[in-house]
Amino acid sequence: MSKRILVTGGLGFIGSHTVVALQEKGFEVVIIDNLSNSSLEVLGGITRITRISPEFENIDLREKAAVKAFFEKYNDIEGVIHFAASKAVGESVENPLLYYENNLNTLIYLLQQLKEKEAPKFIFSSSCTVYGQADELPITESAQVKKAESPYGNTKQIGEEIISDTCKVTPNLKAISLRYFNPIGAHPSAEIGELPIGTPQNLVPYITQTAIGMREKLSVFGDDYPTPDGTCIRDYIHVMDLARAHVVALERLLDDEQQENYEVFNLGTGKGNSVLEAIQAFEKVSGTKLPYQIVGRREGDITAAYADTTRANDVLKWKAEYSIEDAMESAWKWQQRLKEKEEV
Ligand code: WQD
Repeated sequence: MSKRILVTGGLGFIGSHTVVALQEKGFEVVIIDNLSNSSLEVLGGITRITRISPEFENIDLREKAAVKAFFEKYNDIEGVIHFAASKAVGESVENPLLYYENNLNTLIYLLQQLKEKEAPKFIFSSSCTVYGQADELPITESAQVKKAESPYGNTKQIGEEIISDTCKVTPNLKAISLRYFNPIGAHPSAEIGELPIGTPQNLVPYITQTAIGMREKLSVFGDDYPTPDGTCIRDYIHVMDLARAHVVALERLLDDEQQENYEVFNLGTGKGNSVLEAIQAFEKVSGTKLPYQIVGRREGDITAAYADTTRANDVLKWKAEYSIEDAMESAWKWQQRLKEKEEV
């Protein structure tokens, strides 16, 4: 009998790739998504890849009663992977209450339901943003969690504390927070990928939309940072590697391999690339010349962040396998597929 897993935000970028990885590992998946930052089209993409249509519930996790009713209907949920959250740094500065309500109330309502279960397993989608500009690179999980630079980052820090405090008084609850570095790329089938709504805030979708002709040119936010080529350094991790890490972490919880009932892991490649290096990687795999201009720094950007992946490698027995070129190639193939769909 396959275990049933709830994936909140399962129609989102990382969520949808994780649903595919879970189904391919034999898990039965139920998705909760309120479609506020995703599209029902993604359900078709997942099904075309795995030939298994996940169950889908259009629920807003801010509705406490709806969350309770969900767990009454699906009373055999063995694990929850919680992606559903707002994630735009800039928007969180303009509208903090939206972020505190949507990213924290939802987490609390889920945990309140899980506390009632016999052996609940919980995986939290966190972010390297909790470190801010780390004092040392590469960044380990014991690096200081600094005062967040944005309400978004603060919701990830507070979210981790809520889970940690709950685990301390709920021995049957086992949880893992996964701190992602910079997720990029798409499923190699080009059936699912990143679907930014409006102007992309993140680098790679802006690159691919520029290359496909949707944007005139990429603005590189500053080349006067203390880095070799002056542009910021990030750890760009393929979303397929990230999805696989969620399955490995879930199996660790389900197989009761975890001694502590709360653990944290950094998920990155361990390699840093500058913005200019990311552009060069894209140009190499796409065979296109990307038009870009250097402009001023973006408020809130840190100079450099890349992961020390020792704990994930040794404890999760997981290591990123794709390169930045692989990720750029899949992102480009996905952007071209999106264009084909528009032209139908
Ligand atoms: C990467 C680099 C920009 C766009 C954010 C969130 C983080 C996580 C990932 C959710 C930076 C530069 C970007 C552009 C540019 N999200 N850039 N021109 O800011 O590292 O991380 O997304 O969990 O929490 O903070 O990612 O892709 O926005 O930027 O020059 O048009 O690309 O300055 O150096 P970031 P990003």
